[in-house]
Amino acid sequence: MTRAIYPGSFDPLTNGHIDIIERSARLFDELVVAILTNPQKVPLFSVDERLEIMRRIVQPRFKNVRFDAFHGLLVDYARDSQAQAIVRGIRAIADYEFEFEMALMNRRLNPDIETVFMMPAESYSYLSSRLVKEVAQLGGSVKGLVPELVEELLLKKLKR
Ligand code: PNS
Repeated sequence: MTRAIYPGSFDPLTNGHIDIIERSARLFDELVVAILTNPQKVPLFSVDERLEIMRRIVQPRFKNVRFDAFHGLLVDYARDSQAQAIVRGIRAIADYEFEFEMALMNRRLNPDIETVFMMPAESYSYLSSRLVKEVAQLGGSVKGLVPELVEELLLKKLKR
């Protein structure tokens, strides 16, 4: 049984994340989408709101995908979850340096856990939660970039 962790902030979940979830769910027997609880970052959506978004969007669509929140070291969470792999989505070359550092640091911390990089569909190669938040905050449309529920919640949160 192969199990992978797909970690991230998911603040908010985008269609690019869903694309990676879909691809990874085909590769692994079980995928755990794990939301980082990061006390240093002030998120737009609380962890509970992000878990609720996962429950409403990811759960009905994928039978072998679970979701959870974690804090502390990712490799410790992966080990405790008995996962063999960490999935990261990689878009443009700009992602590579940071992802490379993280993957090698994680390997140093736990050589038994492999990082697997997945590429999203080309149409999502410029998409990030950061840009989605910025565009929505400035009144631009994020239609087609995030699930409809996320779009509604963004508009509600930003009172547009
Ligand atoms: O969606 P993000 O913000 O790019 O995800 C970053 C994440 C959650 C994968 C990364 O910050 C992380 O793994 N944090 C947990 C703490 C940790 O293990 N740090 C050492 C990484 S080398």
